[in-house]
Amino acid sequence: MLDVVVLVSGGGTNLQAVMDAVDEGRITNARIAGVISNNPNAYALERARKKGIANCCISPKMFETREEFNEKFLEAVDEMEPDLIVLAGFLVVIPPVMIRKYRNQIINIHPSLIPSFCGKGYYGLKVHEAALERGVKVTGATVHFVDEGTDTGPIILQKAVEIRQEDTPEALQRRVMEQAEWKILPQAVDLIANGKIKVVDNQVRFL
Ligand code: GRF
Repeated sequence: MLDVVVLVSGGGTNLQAVMDAVDEGRITNARIAGVISNNPNAYALERARKKGIANCCISPKMFETREEFNEKFLEAVDEMEPDLIVLAGFLVVIPPVMIRKYRNQIINIHPSLIPSFCGKGYYGLKVHEAALERGVKVTGATVHFVDEGTDTGPIILQKAVEIRQEDTPEALQRRVMEQAEWKILPQAVDLIANGKIKVVDNQVRFL
C-alpha cells in the first residue's frame, strides 16, 4: 500500500481528482496519508478535512529564515512517512535536501506540455497566458518527477488539449485541468502505486 502525501497551495482540484480516483478504484494500492499546504486559506485543506485526511499548514511566513522553514517543512513531510509525494498546485520551492532524500518519489503536475511554457515564473494562469500569447494550437499538461530544477525532472505522462480561437486564459486553464490534469495525475499515481514505471538514465520506462 503506497502512502501518498499531497502538497497543495490553492483550490485543490487536483487533490480532489486523486481522492476521487482512490474512492472509485481508478487508483489501487495507494492511500492519501496526508495533505500539507503553505496557505492556511487553501480550499484544498477543506477538501482534506471533509475526507478525514490528516492535514497541516506550514508556511515560510511562519519562520525567520527559509532555512528554518525548510527544516520544519521536511520534518512535517517525514512525519507522514510518504512513499510518494505529489505536488498538486504547490507553489513553494522544495528544499534540495528533500529532493535528495525523496529522489524519484516526488511528482508534480504542470499545466503545459513540458518543455513548453515551464520553468521559473510559469505557474497557474501565467502558463496559459503565455500559450495564448504565443499562439500555439495545442497545449496540455505534464506529470513529471521533481529534481533540483524547475519542471525539469523525468516526464511520466502528458496529455494534449486543443486551444480554441475564443479561449481566455481562464477558459483554457479550466479545460486543461478537466481534460488533462485531473486525468493524468491520478493515472501517474496508480502507475507508481502498482510498480509500473521506473527511471532509467533519467527517462521514465514503463514495465
Ligand atoms: C492550477 O493552475 C493547475 O493548473 C496547477 O496548479 C493550479 C492549482 O490547481 N496544477 P488546484 O486546483 O489547486 O489543484
